[in-house]
Amino acid sequence: MSLSTTDFEYVRDLVDVEAGIVLDDAKRYLVESRLQPVARIEGFDSPGALVAQARQSSRTALRATIVEAMTTNETSFFRDVEPFEALRLHVLPALIARRRVARRLRIWCGASSTGQEPYSLVMLMLEHFPELATWDVEFLATDLSQDVLKKAASGHFSRIEVNRGLPATLLTRYFDKAGTEWVIKDVVRKAVSFRSMNLIKPWPPMGPFDLVMLRNVMIYFDVATKKQILDRILRALAPDGYLFLGSVETTMGIHDGFDRQTSGRTGFYRPAGALQKHGA
Ligand SMILES: C[S@@+](CC[C@H](N)C(=O)[O-])C[C@H]1O[C@@H](n2cnc3c(N)ncnc32)[C@H](O)[C@@H]1O
Repeated sequence: MSLSTTDFEYVRDLVDVEAGIVLDDAKRYLVESRLQPVARIEGFDSPGALVAQARQSSRTALRATIVEAMTTNETSFFRDVEPFEALRLHVLPALIARRRVARRLRIWCGASSTGQEPYSLVMLMLEHFPELATWDVEFLATDLSQDVLKKAASGHFSRIEVNRGLPATLLTRYFDKAGTEWVIKDVVRKAVSFRSMNLIKPWPPMGPFDLVMLRNVMIYFDVATKKQILDRILRALAPDGYLFLGSVETTMGIHDGFDRQTSGRTGFYRPAGALQKHGA
């Protein structure tokens, strides 16, 4: 049984309400291909049968599985390179200078997928800011998907994953080989706390964060959802803090509470007026 229009519309609405992810009609094929393996694992002979069961039954776990299957978890170590250069050359030196008395940093990665993004940042800090070893650095990484969180927390990566974006020196220094996989060393793994969090549902009390990474997730949301999330980030961000979005994402035209600042060939966002009030 392939996916009927009613089934597709059910999945589209479910994913919108539960994750904020907008699926237009052109994504119908994507929905079907993503649900194919889920149907098999859950013991249904087709995506249509899976959706029919999800619609009828009170099995919320089945609906959550469908929502998770529709998330895109694409990520890589040091993705896009430039933002990590901006962090190394500009943001972390500025934060370290301003926090030298409190010696405390709080970082949140709000759509961390399988962990490459937060782990890249931890390796960058270990390599270039050894003084942070004696600071109180809190690093929270969250995602909606339980599957990616489990993988992230395990610190296990395939050969293909470590070949994407990770310099060979860092692979040798921070990973151990385990069969065909690579396992990130505890000094990196234990620096990050992975937790489940849905950006479009009520947030637990959190913040203030000095640095928020929310990259390549808002592209899936509609404008009203983006605005609401940016509103909440503004409240969770320190007045002199920094927000990194994905390379095709922006606050411009969506929320006027942020200023864009540039470093090299990339940009990041800060609460409006932060540069004048607190410096670079
Ligand atoms: C494309 S990945 C981005 C990973 C990483 N930030 C990067 O840029 O490489 C998007 C992630 O957002 C997560 N996601 C999607 N909707 C979400 C929501 N409503 N709340 C929290 N995470 C969500 C997905 O599970 C996925 O892991």
